Amino acid sequence: MKRLIAVILTVLFLLGLAGCGKSEDTSSNSNSDGKMIGVSMPTKSLQRWNEDGKNMKSKLEAAGYKVDLQYGGDNDIPTQVNQIENMITEGCKVIVIAAIDGSSLTEVLKKAKEQNIPVIAYDRLIMNSDAVSYYATFDNTQVGVMQGEFIEKKLDLKNQKGPFNIELFTGDPADNNATFFFGGAMKILKPYIDSGVLKVLSGQTTQAQVSTAGWKTENAQSRMENLITSNGYSPKGKKLDAVCCSNDSTAMGVTNALVSAGYTKDNMPIITGQDCDKANVKNMVQGLQSMSVFKDTRALADKVVSMVDAIVKGTKPEINDPNTYNNGKGVVPSYLCAPVAATIDNYKQILIDSKYYKESDIQ
Ligand code: BGC
Repeated sequence: MKRLIAVILTVLFLLGLAGCGKSEDTSSNSNSDGKMIGVSMPTKSLQRWNEDGKNMKSKLEAAGYKVDLQYGGDNDIPTQVNQIENMITEGCKVIVIAAIDGSSLTEVLKKAKEQNIPVIAYDRLIMNSDAVSYYATFDNTQVGVMQGEFIEKKLDLKNQKGPFNIELFTGDPADNNATFFFGGAMKILKPYIDSGVLKVLSGQTTQAQVSTAGWKTENAQSRMENLITSNGYSPKGKKLDAVCCSNDSTAMGVTNALVSAGYTKDNMPIITGQDCDKANVKNMVQGLQSMSVFKDTRALADKVVSMVDAIVKGTKPEINDPNTYNNGKGVVPSYLCAPVAATIDNYKQILIDSKYYKESDIQ
């Protein structure tokens, strides 16, 4: 019996040494040589953040760094705060953060500043903190402009009088990007709404009215279901010409609601999106979503890795926008990558030829 217990204890000890039971994202690398970089991502539940995390880890490792990559549960703010606290404690050289809630990191980042750990805001600006050294993202206003311009072109708004019916969907109010996406789209669409060429039958046109908590598909879906019922949109009844959605997770909810209400590829309104998530590209191929905006997460990761490297080596990272992004404590020097509008006509070139996806991923 004693022997058996000893064997069990030895096995448990060895399993412990092998690191079993560690969370899958936790790097098993030690930080003994001070080359650890913390990467904090918001959620695994959306495809893009998985791509972002994977790219950041592999590119940082290729540049000779060790990586502590963490995901904040499913958009759980306290989890993200704890993970960042651990990154500070383990002495990360630089911490890269895609914030769940842009305004909830002020306190934890004070600690990073005290320890002289530079912070890079990844994709989403971190608000109300003077601890943010740089920001790398895509041109978020341009994303919205591309969505608005797509609708403008498809409905030929420059020449037609309409009226065309449109509804609007944007993202989580705590995500600073949502303001830029919505602002960009409204820059194009608002003049047509004001002149009556576009009509929003729900009357919901402010960012607060059209936001989607947590960017969640199910929230967009239930709002679209309500809009269908309350405004009488239907393939045979009142025509819905376009739904301007800020990203693919909201576009998916809108599409689901419309398909349930009987819409098909033959009468689907124009639906915009962003991210080129695989499921949405599939919808695009099937004629259920009209466009998405491709943001090559490899390009963003390349840029952030070069920023990290410059910071560690004591040189200045390249920026291309010193003016736009004020986080409430000052302007954060930024680098904006270029988004690309994706449609059925160019998706092969931008997604498959560039090896972002395999053809089989989206069939
Ligand atoms: C990102 C989008 C993404 C959205 C939801 C935004 O901050 O820029 O690419 O679709 O968050 O996760």
